[in-house]
Amino acid sequence: MAARPLASLASGPLKGRVRVPGDKSISHRALMFGAISTGTTRLRGLLEAEDVLNTAKVLSALGAPVTKAGGEWHVKGRGVGGLSQPDSPLDFGNSGTGTRLMLGIIAGHDMTVEIIGDASLSRRPMGRVLGPLQQMGLEIEGARDRLPLVARGSSNLIPITYELPVPSAQVKSAVLLAGLHAPGETSVIEKEATRDHTERMLRHFGAELSVDTLDGKTKITVKGDAELKGCDVVIPGDPSSAAFLAAAAALVPGSDVTIEGVLINPTRVGFYEVLREMGADVSFLNERDEGGEPVADIRVQQAPLKGVHVAAHRAPSMIDEYPVLSVVAAFAQGETRMDGLAELKVKESDRLAATVAGLIANGVDAASEGDVLIVRGSGAVRGGGLVETHLDHRMAMSFLTMGLASKEPVTVDDVAMVATSFPEFLSLMQSLGARFGMGAEARG
Ligand code: S3P
Repeated sequence: MAARPLASLASGPLKGRVRVPGDKSISHRALMFGAISTGTTRLRGLLEAEDVLNTAKVLSALGAPVTKAGGEWHVKGRGVGGLSQPDSPLDFGNSGTGTRLMLGIIAGHDMTVEIIGDASLSRRPMGRVLGPLQQMGLEIEGARDRLPLVARGSSNLIPITYELPVPSAQVKSAVLLAGLHAPGETSVIEKEATRDHTERMLRHFGAELSVDTLDGKTKITVKGDAELKGCDVVIPGDPSSAAFLAAAAALVPGSDVTIEGVLINPTRVGFYEVLREMGADVSFLNERDEGGEPVADIRVQQAPLKGVHVAAHRAPSMIDEYPVLSVVAAFAQGETRMDGLAELKVKESDRLAATVAGLIANGVDAASEGDVLIVRGSGAVRGGGLVETHLDHRMAMSFLTMGLASKEPVTVDDVAMVATSFPEFLSLMQSLGARFGMGAEARG
């Protein structure tokens, strides 16, 4: 597919009320949990972006048809252990979440499947899920920890207790999903809280799951040989997508934007808390509960910002938001230091390196040292640079956000990947007053 460069241009005040599409993490899980439940699961607000649609195709290929009916999506569940051998390789496209969580489900089935993905996904480490899943009984052909992989599951999995070596909700979820298919109890211990959508939603589907805290660690246990029942799920707006709109509103002078119906689960809102600490005017309005998750309308008004220290323990609650937070930090007065970012190196791209390169290309004083990212803001950004996105949707959206408030346009080398998580990004931004075009760099 040919790359589609695009520039963002200095824009007038951004104003209005918008809704962002459904949360990506919850959308993947709702489809998957529906597929391993009995009966039909009905989903409202599903994210219709490439990553999630790939998961839907994979589940259909495994014998659990996913269909759209009016504004809802329906999953015809096959029950725990009830999926069937697919005829062709399972293609997860760009999605680490889809791949890693589905490996946990495939582990519990007597089937051999080939798993493939795009160039970005094929570079990402799978050993972090394969390790515990192999302890449980999954077999992998060859000593591979990258896609393409051939995985052989088993209906005789062994339950384990697994302490996460890296704070990863994907690894936690993969082990818990495999645990549903094993006899007895499977536990995951985490030192740092990662997003807890799997725990919340498994309970909603009727799984027996307990969460205990001990010596500052959390132990999550699922009961195996589980029976899940299909149900209705309402998927709230994605705070990681809303972060780009919130950042733009915080930066573009005179802006006042409200994003309706956004998930404000405490394991996901680190970015908004830091934005407030930087001096941004951020309010959570009309807080409510939707489908077992807390939701609010998020209002952001532009205000002068200052640099802050973002401690390492906050990383899991905002792991996908560091590129756009770094963009915000470039417009603040003073230094923003972000600690504990090792996980950023293994996302859809090496986001630590790509963020620093993108900032420097636009005249920002930025550097990384080990797993620390430092941005020295001077209150304004020159812009004018061409940013390499490395097949990474969040790099594209972060730097397009930058160009709305910088002096010169900011060009990204390819905007096509935005469809991975947020196909409506450009049109929603434009509806608020954002301007995009072809930058000089892209034309040249
Ligand atoms: C996700 C977890 C995070 C996040 C990803 C979605 C999930 O990854 O970066 O976009 O849905 O569980 P890790 O859990 O590997 O940090």
